[in-house]
Amino acid sequence: MCGIVGAAAQRNVLGILVEGLKRLEYRGYDSAGVALLDSDQQLQLRKTVGKVAGLEEAIAAEPATGQIGIAHTRWATHGKPTQANAHPHTSANIAVVHNGIIENYQEIREQLIAKGATFVSETDTEVIVHLINDLVSGGKDLFDAVVAATEQFEGAYALGVISADDPDRLIGARSGSPLVVGVGIEENFIASDQMALRQVTDRFIFLEEGDLVEVTTNGVTILDKDKNRVVRKISRITDADEAADKGEYRHYMQKEIFEQPKVIGNTLQGRIGKTAVLEEAFGTEAKAIFDRTRAVQIVACGTSYHAGLVAKYWLEEWAGIACSIEVASEYRYRRFVVSPDTLFVTISQSGETADTLAALRLAKESGYIAGLTICNVPNSSLVRESDLALMTNAGPEIGVASTKAFTTQLTALQLLTIVLGRRHDLTADREQELIEALHQMPKLCEMVLELDKTIEKVSEAFADKHHALFLGRGVQYPVAMEGALKLKEISYIHAESYPAGELKHGPLALVDSDMPVVVVAPSNQLLEKLKSNLEEVQARGGELFVFADKDAGFSSDDNTTVINIPHVPDSLAPLIYTLPLQLLSYHVAILKGTDVDQPRNLAKSVTVE
Ligand code: G6P
Repeated sequence: MCGIVGAAAQRNVLGILVEGLKRLEYRGYDSAGVALLDSDQQLQLRKTVGKVAGLEEAIAAEPATGQIGIAHTRWATHGKPTQANAHPHTSANIAVVHNGIIENYQEIREQLIAKGATFVSETDTEVIVHLINDLVSGGKDLFDAVVAATEQFEGAYALGVISADDPDRLIGARSGSPLVVGVGIEENFIASDQMALRQVTDRFIFLEEGDLVEVTTNGVTILDKDKNRVVRKISRITDADEAADKGEYRHYMQKEIFEQPKVIGNTLQGRIGKTAVLEEAFGTEAKAIFDRTRAVQIVACGTSYHAGLVAKYWLEEWAGIACSIEVASEYRYRRFVVSPDTLFVTISQSGETADTLAALRLAKESGYIAGLTICNVPNSSLVRESDLALMTNAGPEIGVASTKAFTTQLTALQLLTIVLGRRHDLTADREQELIEALHQMPKLCEMVLELDKTIEKVSEAFADKHHALFLGRGVQYPVAMEGALKLKEISYIHAESYPAGELKHGPLALVDSDMPVVVVAPSNQLLEKLKSNLEEVQARGGELFVFADKDAGFSSDDNTTVINIPHVPDSLAPLIYTLPLQLLSYHVAILKGTDVDQPRNLAKSVTVE
């Protein structure tokens, strides 16, 4: 998704801006651009379709320097990925970069055209820069013009603005899309994600909804949504900058898959004792909120939604607590009924997903007890706006296809199930059993990851296929859904998932030797039923790939490949069986030569709806 970087310094900022864009590349984008004010106070603009490396080539062909500038990676929403549609957009001496969507842009565009503005792109963003220019031409100062312009916008935006007529100021605004200020020594910055600025500072101001900011080399001035001057807290980010480095791995996704034993350990650290979950981990208010909780509503998107589906099984089966779950983009646009004493739970890797955030805001006015988020990014919007937050502590996830975020979310959701369950149907003995199993998680993950070479070999059977079917039963059904999502995201093979019992109600018609059928088959009470479902596939000449408990009694033959998984406690099976499916899609994508970390058309952090 789009990324913004801006800088005001007493040195050439071009390198800072380009490095910032590179650090945002993982979010997914299709064009990039930069605008600088050079020493003659002329706007220097460079834009290219494609990767930041292409932008660097364009800059090398026509060098530029400047001490103030803005830069952008664009993920097309309005208008194709073309040079004309790439940001920054300009009007007279003003340049703008924008994340988000201006929903009433048509109306503003018509008004501006009537006043003589000439539009050169198909974007909604271009109205922003023409409107600011119109207000400046009418006598407003640049900052006041941005303030006045934002009053006319409906939708979501994070903005960066510079002007050749006002060469010392960089203006930013945030409403619905994240923006942070990076604080340096005699230099200051803005960015859509602090990660873009980690090479220049570790001190950040996380702007709040409706904030407007003026950034110069000397300072930062912030107006809140009511246009009052405010001083916001500066946070120091002390995380190691681990995400910038792939280490020994070929792709971030591969690195993140193999990090899972360690980061699941991080999710558990400080949250579990020998025999019980430590409730304090959820925050001081948590106890009172959990005491009141009789039901749970989960809302999330993508992979995080799949984690929520698994949690529904756990919450109902182990804790005896009613749980509903819905994708955020649906939930936010329908009338829903809130049962008494329901806790609202969002799950999100980024904490910035527009639909999930909108659902939380809606929920806050709808009579839930409180909002809890399971999230991976501290200081993200979801964390700041929720009453309770349990961080997954997975570290930055760069690969667009989510891996370690999912398994750490499951780990955190298991902790939540336990603390809620102990107030309902979960006995102390069962809690102890679950905790003992959790302590084994990192080791078991390592054992399963040792199957990498075996799975690499299995992946060969998928490389020339156009479709695949993923089957699971019970709590393994969402695991099959996540497996199918991974395969389609990064290998572009059409993959569908079904509860195995539904096979005969439709998908069986698709089964033939061209349709590999992937099955997750831990040893549980549904195993025998699953085996009968698989016979239905075998009888139609389908090719089966069964990820099965080593003691479950499956054996390979001409049409069946069995990948033996070590025996694991039932409670851990959804986490453990996810890993080989991640490896499978990774290896299929390698064989197909796709862009594993930045698959086409997808974005890491979807900050527009
Ligand atoms: C995008 C990403 C997915 C992610 C989903 C939800 O589609 O590509 O990997 O699962 O957004 O994101 P969140 O940050 O809320 O978990």
